[in-house]
Amino acid sequence: MTAQPPAPGPHAHDDAAPDAAPDAAPDEAPAPVPGEAPDPWADPWSAVAAGWARTWGSFARPVWDPLLAAAGVAPGARVLDVGCGSGELLEHLAARGARPVGVDPAPGMVALARRRAPGVAVHAAAFEELPFDDGTFDVVTAVNALQLADPDEALDEAARVLVPGGALALAGWAERERNDVDALERAVAVALDDDPPTDGPLRLPGGLEAALGDAGLAVVAAGVAAVPWTAPDDDALVAGILLGEDEPVLAELRDAVLRAARPFRTAGGGYRLRNAFRWAVGRTLA
Ligand SMILES: C[S@@+](CC[C@H](N)C(=O)[O-])C[C@H]1O[C@@H](n2cnc3c(N)ncnc32)[C@H](O)[C@@H]1O
Repeated sequence: MTAQPPAPGPHAHDDAAPDAAPDAAPDEAPAPVPGEAPDPWADPWSAVAAGWARTWGSFARPVWDPLLAAAGVAPGARVLDVGCGSGELLEHLAARGARPVGVDPAPGMVALARRRAPGVAVHAAAFEELPFDDGTFDVVTAVNALQLADPDEALDEAARVLVPGGALALAGWAERERNDVDALERAVAVALDDDPPTDGPLRLPGGLEAALGDAGLAVVAAGVAAVPWTAPDDDALVAGILLGEDEPVLAELRDAVLRAARPFRTAGGGYRLRNAFRWAVGRTLA
């Protein structure tokens, strides 16, 4: 896969697959409602979980604080992070005194998130079927995750588990022209004789706000945050951009990625790519 597409590619692998983690949740955390096991289609993310954590897990950090401030996350707030990945935002929420809970359909991500945010309940579940009662959370966050779900079902579920007047806080990649990563993904597409990647509606100006409005929420704030991505050397750049690809594909595409990345080289031999996330916060009716 490359950094932005919806899911790891068919050849996704990672040698450092996370260990299984205990299923226990802290006593004070909202208890999940029993439901069906998550679909196996989500599991490609398990295969790349360790690589994701290493190369991309913290890169969305610059959007966290504007998003959480606009959502009014205060100490003690019950916050559900959906598509929590390897758990970096959960760790951040706990450090600022909120009471976070995470869900992710990929068991490998769940295991890493539990390890990164000990004491935080993390459950294997998808956006479209959140295993919680109505009105369980003050805030629901989803960073770089909504585009992987059915947005209508996902936002209905998020609104359902929020208290009246609760906040749904969304963030994700902005339109490709704002992202240097796109130049590398285009180079990969050319090398593979594929069509160039295109923007889905959630990436475009007003896309997140429209989705919130369609789900019946009132948009209270929105913005754009710079989320640069850095790689210390050629190997890290190629590993991050081609996350989940197997060795033959990495070898085939390495030169195309490095050529396309030349404009982004730093004096120290690494790379710095300028990228942007759009974010928006909506509130349910009080
Ligand atoms: C691009 S990663 C982002 C992870 C994390 N939010 C972050 O910002 O680093 C996307 C995550 O969404 C999860 N995911 C995939 N399909 C999903 C769905 N239908 N509902 C919720 N999460 C999903 C993946 O397993 C993966 O952990």
